[in-house]
Amino acid sequence: MKICCIGAGYVGGPTMAMIAKKCHDIDVAVVDLNEERIAAWNSDCLPIYEPGLQEIVEERRGKNLTFSTEVKSHIKSADIIFISVGTPTKDYGIGAGQAPELGYIEGCARMIAEACDGPKIVIEKSTVPVRTAELVKSVFDGYNKGHLFEILSNPEFLAEGTAITDLENPDRVLIGGDSTESGKKAVQTVVDVYNRWVPREKIITTNVWSSELSKLVANAFLAQRVSSINAISAVCEVSGADVEEVANAIGMDSRIGPKFLKSSVGFGGSCFQKDILNLVYLSGHFGLPEVAEYWRQVITMNEYQRKRFTRKVIHSLFNTLQGKRIAVLGFAFKKDTNDTRESAAIYICRDLLEEGADIVVYDPQVPAEEIKHLTSDSTKIANSAEEAAKDAHAVLILTEWDEFVALDYAAIYKDMVKPAHIFDGRNILDLEKLESIGFKASCIGKS
Ligand code: UDX
Ligand code: UDX
Ligand code: ADP
Repeated sequence: MKICCIGAGYVGGPTMAMIAKKCHDIDVAVVDLNEERIAAWNSDCLPIYEPGLQEIVEERRGKNLTFSTEVKSHIKSADIIFISVGTPTKDYGIGAGQAPELGYIEGCARMIAEACDGPKIVIEKSTVPVRTAELVKSVFDGYNKGHLFEILSNPEFLAEGTAITDLENPDRVLIGGDSTESGKKAVQTVVDVYNRWVPREKIITTNVWSSELSKLVANAFLAQRVSSINAISAVCEVSGADVEEVANAIGMDSRIGPKFLKSSVGFGGSCFQKDILNLVYLSGHFGLPEVAEYWRQVITMNEYQRKRFTRKVIHSLFNTLQGKRIAVLGFAFKKDTNDTRESAAIYICRDLLEEGADIVVYDPQVPAEEIKHLTSDSTKIANSAEEAAKDAHAVLILTEWDEFVALDYAAIYKDMVKPAHIFDGRNILDLEKLESIGFKASCIGKS
């Protein structure tokens, strides 16, 4: 059997590496038009940082795992084709700022239709709006090849930073397909691939639309939990309650559960905002403005949380940041990834720059050029947390990297301008200890 995945990104790369690892008899090819990206996948320096990924790629590359820019030939020889290209939010025209850009998906559908003359299973792996499979199908029909393809939806639920463990031991695998005979057969083929390592009871099959919608809804619910606890963090700060005590107390209710209740500077990542906007757009499109408004509020609350954090920094530094050095520790949208998409740090840094701050950023994984590109050429990049904090008026923790917990804060304090402030936007530090060193310390959701 041959599998081809179009799109060598955060989803396609790790997912195909896992299939190659678990199914040595299946040839897996990951193809992408981006030559630089493919070259990186074929080098010692992979284009994405993901714990455990490098080992798997090194083990299978050159055996049953290939990374290539030869898109058409790999599509043509594959039995199963995954579409795993980006679906960013549209920034122009109808649906700008909400609807997803489906141009890449359409491009893939056309390439597949042009390249193939035999039967194939085509799987949507990218997060797509409900009824995208219909778009793909009508492209195939346009080439009079609709009968050749069975279109399935198999959304990916992996989270960045834990992609390998999520893929190896998923909560569930979701496969949506048609209830026709050929549809059922295609679904079974894909079930059999995952069933090599995922227990059958964790593989659920639905119709295509339920599968597409479930992906959006899963991300919307997760993001909603973060916005909910962040809303409560604002109440805690003014009322004397402690958001971690509240989260712990409610999380022990088995109906609520303990996960995803960590208050923060706000959620980021490529999926949450995009998928909610997608849901908002769909709801509006189907004439359900109240539903659209309900979900939009999750994003409004996220923006509020970022602004609230920045306002606290400005207020604590006597309402002026002009010429003050501010050390920003962490730029990725969460720890253990080099991904900065929609990271809260981007928005917070921009707001601080607007206030005239002199920003110095340290992140253990994000490249310097990328930080500058997303903020300003004037942003300084440090090679360590200590270097960033030297002569700073304030330290801001914006990503929860483990190394920030273990820093020698007493030494950092000595080299800072006094009063030295620390704002823990991830609640990873011991504030009492910091205050005993001399810091003016604050975090999220505690007065
Ligand atoms: C609730 C809390 O569950 C309980 O912990 C608290 O002490 C008091 O308030 P109660 O009002 O008795 O308890 O009922 P509950 O089972 O929570 O249901 C509340 C409402 O939500 C009901 O109308 C129920 O039908 C509805 N509900 C609940 C749903 O519509 N869907 C659900 O999935 C769950
Ligand atoms: C998410 C979903 O978890 C995953 O299932 C889906 O396939 C893709 O989108 P990801 O974006 O990689 O994954 O990261 P996730 O761990 O969900 O975190 C998203 C954001 O929420 C991060 O910025 C994180 O810091 C923040 N977050 C998460 C919180 O602020 N508090 C929490 O309790 C959990
Ligand atoms: P995700 O996070 O969903 O994996 P990424 O943006 O990281 O998304 O990756 C998507 C990849 O898909 C990019 O590397 C892009 O070059 C690739 N891509 C987009 N359109 C096509 C296409 N028509 N053919 C091949 N690759 C494509």
